[in-house]
Amino acid sequence: MSLSSSPFNVFASYTPKPKTFLKDSKLLSRSHQPNSFPLQTQKPSTNLTLTRPKLKPISSLETSEINTSSSPTFRNKPANEINILVVGSTGYIGRFVVKELVSRGFNVIAVAREKSGVRGKNNKEETLKQLKGANVCFSDVTDITSLQESLQNLNLSIDVVVSCLASRNGGIKDSWKIDYEATKNSLVAGQNFGAKHFVLLSAICVQKPLLEFQRAKLKFEAELMNQKDSTFTYSIVRPTAFFKSLGGQVEIVKEGKPYVMFGDGKLCACKPISEEDLASFIADCVLEEDKMNQVLPIGGPGKALTPLEQGEILFRVLGREPKFLKVPFEVMDFVIGVLDGVAKVVPGVKEAAEFGKIGRYYAAESMLILDPETGEYSEEMTPSYGKDTLEDFFEKVVREGMAGQELGEQFF
Ligand SMILES: NC(=O)c1ccc[n+]([C@@H]2O[C@H](COP(=O)([O-])OP(=O)(O)OC[C@H]3O[C@@H](n4cnc5c(N)ncnc54)[C@H](OP(=O)(O)O)[C@@H]3O)[C@@H](O)[C@H]2O)c1
Repeated sequence: MSLSSSPFNVFASYTPKPKTFLKDSKLLSRSHQPNSFPLQTQKPSTNLTLTRPKLKPISSLETSEINTSSSPTFRNKPANEINILVVGSTGYIGRFVVKELVSRGFNVIAVAREKSGVRGKNNKEETLKQLKGANVCFSDVTDITSLQESLQNLNLSIDVVVSCLASRNGGIKDSWKIDYEATKNSLVAGQNFGAKHFVLLSAICVQKPLLEFQRAKLKFEAELMNQKDSTFTYSIVRPTAFFKSLGGQVEIVKEGKPYVMFGDGKLCACKPISEEDLASFIADCVLEEDKMNQVLPIGGPGKALTPLEQGEILFRVLGREPKFLKVPFEVMDFVIGVLDGVAKVVPGVKEAAEFGKIGRYYAAESMLILDPETGEYSEEMTPSYGKDTLEDFFEKVVREGMAGQELGEQFF
């Protein structure tokens, strides 16, 4: 699911706060060299950090003590001997995670549907092209039996599972089916084939769960954290907003229309993170012991940005005077109230009412760490990682359009 920056998507905004370690351009240079070796013949990896240096987040939420003495043996193997199963490999983040893991020399088994992408627009050939360097396993993550049969056919053991699965529409049923059940299938299947570590792409907003997809994610997170096998580890990555969720107004504003926001545009903030930066952070979670058994909220570089500040950045990039349309929250609340009321008597409207609530949530809630002491969102507590800024992203979209930044199937 995505956070759109359409008028009905108020996803976040933030103000960049540069961290000194992010400024060294050499340190931050990035090159993705897909490794297309087949699984059985991969060459030993030289250095996992060659293609993209590891950037340390400023902080993390520690959930338990790390017992390095019980580190699973896969951590001692060279990258080319580590088999990583990636589910959700064809998503906005999943594609970049596959690319990053491949570039670091791991053996990547990417699970995909035969028709993948938004509304199944990619056929098998397109999917294979997209997941170059990985061993693509066409299967069904929603069906544990078929998933396990597919893995059986590969005749391989699995060391690590990385899940970038997510409901493509964020609806109630689909969220439980994908964010909980299918993700759990990948855990169970992975473990049955030897996996000792699970990296989960979750979302920072689960810290304040008011929506069904957040509850589905939290249920899985809780089960992941409570595995009986003490040698099994996890990393739960909870990012703030993605760039795609904030780019929805670029084309409209470019045409001369105003930038739309709710309220005064200062209510919610986030530290947007690019696909590549997040993929790199997720790849770090495969081997780095300080990320074992951790819940890891993560944002991009710079300070938190409100919608107002995001709009100002966009107008600056376009070289235009800012022009805003501020929509009162009451308008959205009225629509949601009507949908909620109708949903009580017409069950078919329940999903639409949920989409309205999702829009409302992101119009008001920041994608930053919620300080348990103050109950306020805290920019300072939210770690930063990577180098790509929203301004760079806006410049790219103004130049090249939104290709590759397509939102999911939700209509908010
Ligand atoms: N958008 C944001 O700003 C934001 C911020 C923080 C966190 N997040 C979280 O990040 C996560 C991933 O986001 P994303 O944008 O990368 O997701 P996405 O582009 O929607 O990708 C979802 C992935 O799950 C797969 N999937 C969905 N339904 C499936 C089904 N029925 N059967 C098999 N596979 C299925 C998709 O496969 P197909 O290609 O075959 O459809 C795709 O690989 C979500 O959990 C989201 O909550 C998002």
